Amino acid sequence: MKFTIKIASPEKSEAGLLAVCVFVDGSLPPMSQAINEASRDRLSEFVSSGELDEKAGSTLLLHGLTNVAAERVLLVSLGKSTSFGDKAWRDALAAIGKAFKDTPAREGAIVLEETTLPPGRDLTWALRQATRIIAERAYRFDAPRAKNENVKRGARKVAFILSSKPSQSQKEAILHGQAIAEGMALAKDLGNYGANVCTPAKLAETALALGKEFKFEVDVLNRADMEKLGMGALLSVAQGSCREPKFIVMQYHGRNLSHGKKGKAFKNNDSPSRPIVLVGKGITFDSGGISLKPGPEMDEMKYDMCGAASVIGAFKAIALMKLPIHVVGLVPASENMPSGDASRPGDVVRSMSGQTIEILNTDAEGRLILCDALTYAERFNPDCVIDIATLTGACVVALGRIPSGLLSTDDALADELTQNGLDSGDRVWRLPLWEEYQELLKSNFADMANVGGRFGGAITGAAFLSRFTKAYKWAHLDIAGTAWLSGDAKGATGRPLPLLGEFLIGRTKVH
Ligand code: BES
Ligand code: MN
Ligand code: ZN
Repeated sequence: MKFTIKIASPEKSEAGLLAVCVFVDGSLPPMSQAINEASRDRLSEFVSSGELDEKAGSTLLLHGLTNVAAERVLLVSLGKSTSFGDKAWRDALAAIGKAFKDTPAREGAIVLEETTLPPGRDLTWALRQATRIIAERAYRFDAPRAKNENVKRGARKVAFILSSKPSQSQKEAILHGQAIAEGMALAKDLGNYGANVCTPAKLAETALALGKEFKFEVDVLNRADMEKLGMGALLSVAQGSCREPKFIVMQYHGRNLSHGKKGKAFKNNDSPSRPIVLVGKGITFDSGGISLKPGPEMDEMKYDMCGAASVIGAFKAIALMKLPIHVVGLVPASENMPSGDASRPGDVVRSMSGQTIEILNTDAEGRLILCDALTYAERFNPDCVIDIATLTGACVVALGRIPSGLLSTDDALADELTQNGLDSGDRVWRLPLWEEYQELLKSNFADMANVGGRFGGAITGAAFLSRFTKAYKWAHLDIAGTAWLSGDAKGATGRPLPLLGEFLIGRTKVH
């Protein structure tokens, strides 16, 4: 999908499908009013008659309006102006995205006016969000079926109709929104593949191919390399699988403007900048290991690499956006399988940090691969480290599937991510990480156990990880409830890429 900005009279815009957002109360905003006048008040009739439903995101498809150049007009409800906010606006945009996906029209257009933006939001924000939401909706998983799906519908081009010339940041917003959506599409693909296709090797190949395409550095460590580094925790998870684990290291070093002298940009590699490190859990299938999971819905554990997918997807987005920042991506990738070689409950292993771990439950494997990656992160002298993991079922119980869990030892970083979540609509909710929780991880046979009992599972999981993050600022995103949808809509969501995109773009500004 290709996005552009057009400055035009909306009634004269020749799109196959032209979307116009209106409130169900109050008067029409200027550009919608222009269409309304051209069509002899048809828009206001549909609104005042109640034909357009009050609920934000409801739509009416109108054909052949007189004196309107577009073949079809999609009238989209923003709900009541009195209860308007980010959610109603996002619902409206999602409805436009769905209409653009299903329409026989090849060219879509959207009238975007400042007066119909949520309070406190500007056009730059709106363009970035709208582009991402619409591009995101166009995603289809190319499922391997006997007969290829022949997709004939859907807009290929989308134009935003503005009333005045766009600023540089508004033009950039479209590129950014599109880049994030492309990162999400890659992350969704990786998540949606079966674990027979999306193996640790496949994750590594994907990262290597990206690095080649976009010219950033990618190194892949194999089992022998991990042994040399002393990654005993990661290796203990991998030992039950016949597939070799991979440890993927990606380094994107964009020109770093923020650390240069005023007005002077650094070129690659001569920047003294400290990187942002992203760490993604890459369990390509989580059977639970010897602590085997029950059968129902076990297929969904192919999604246990969605943290890894979001980091790889983030690198695609960063490269497409050409962000002037230094980012390192770490992906410990492994299967968690039962076998004669698998680790057992009661095994004690030594992590790369030197700390020992008693494995009481082999199903708490995410923290075991992550802890070694978090230790490895120290060598980059990070500005901050964010790990992204489908870590605990307990997080889903606590928060449901709306926000991702956020746990952090740094209040400023936690606040920043919380705001990024609100701005992108990809929200997080912080859980406490108080010292008291550490006691639950006591072991008689090692420095710590890998589980902390029945209660507060999302927190004890993060408390475990925090023991490996003392050297830097750190935040943990538990995406167990947000990385994929179950039931009829089963599929990866691409979250938390919108959040990460917002965070990374924010880091290119004053920091
Ligand atoms: N990958 C799972 C977490 C998970 C479970 C995510 C269900 C989404 C849906 C993780 O490896 C796991 O098994 N965690 C255990 C931890 C427990 C053994 C302390 C869990 O949540 O049950
Ligand atoms: Mn598990
Ligand atoms: Zn897992």
